[in-house]
Amino acid sequence: MLQQFDPRNADLIVNVGGRLVHRDKAGVSPFDSLVQGGDGVWEGLRLYDGKIFRLTEHLDRLADSAKAIAIAGVPSREEIVAEIRKTLEANGMRDGVHIRLTLSRGTKITSGMDPRLNQSGPTLIVLAEWKAPVYDKGGLTLQTSSVRRFPPDCLDPKIHSNNLLQSILAKIETNAAGADAALLLDRDGFLAECNGTHVFLVRRGEVLTSHTDACPEGITRQTVLDLCRSNGIPARPARLSLPEAYRADEMFCTGTMGELAAVTRLDGRTIGDGTVGAMTQRLTELFTAEVAASGEPILD
Ligand SMILES: Cc1ncc(COP(=O)(O)O)c(C=O)c1O
Repeated sequence: MLQQFDPRNADLIVNVGGRLVHRDKAGVSPFDSLVQGGDGVWEGLRLYDGKIFRLTEHLDRLADSAKAIAIAGVPSREEIVAEIRKTLEANGMRDGVHIRLTLSRGTKITSGMDPRLNQSGPTLIVLAEWKAPVYDKGGLTLQTSSVRRFPPDCLDPKIHSNNLLQSILAKIETNAAGADAALLLDRDGFLAECNGTHVFLVRRGEVLTSHTDACPEGITRQTVLDLCRSNGIPARPARLSLPEAYRADEMFCTGTMGELAAVTRLDGRTIGDGTVGAMTQRLTELFTAEVAASGEPILD
């Protein structure tokens, strides 16, 4: 699951604060809040055939996260859409693209964490890359991490922030163990999510996923729950334990970067019969149809 360099991205044009620059020249100031403290919020979006899937929901989540950390002067929705469009046009992009949208609190007058040191900003960064869905669809291997996801009274995961160290520590552990991704538990030992995706179980025809107490309000996660509802598939959020995962008939994870991907091994155990299950396949097909039917046009 280690992503490889795609030569089509060698000459990317990146949008930093409205300026279009070659990727080799793009950068932020050492005084930028992202450098000083991971102090910013972000979204990962996908462009399919000139349309961004769930664009409104992604922009809502960006605005909600920015508000939660009191970033002032957030660009309007129209301004953000115009910057995304400008970046896609500069790169001649229409399909098979992942967009990382970052909103930094901006540049500080001197180093330090105090947001009052920010006297300019925020800064919007649009990084659009050629990137096919990144996860192996043949079945991922997960390992439970010793790193726990924060509860809301420590750092609420509903803030989709640039401070990813918790996930990175989990990933370091997982890499050493040779697994594809880390499964993180919450402070009570229930399944929270993976290091960068949400997690689902299937048991006797019912689709289950963790509550969003210790994971972000995932857009792919919500799409899967909505697809279940509209297609008569029983589905609900639940507190899920590790033994419930071990005994599940199927397990899969979800995220914008990789859509739906089956999990066939967890902590050295085989999940279900060790192949991509029928429900995972069905939901993958429903998701593909939903993407084709409901993207929001961004290019003329
Ligand atoms: C920690 C984490 N979990 C899960 C996800 C997947 O969420 P979504 O489906 O909204 O892409 C993301 C995506 O940014 C994430 O950062």
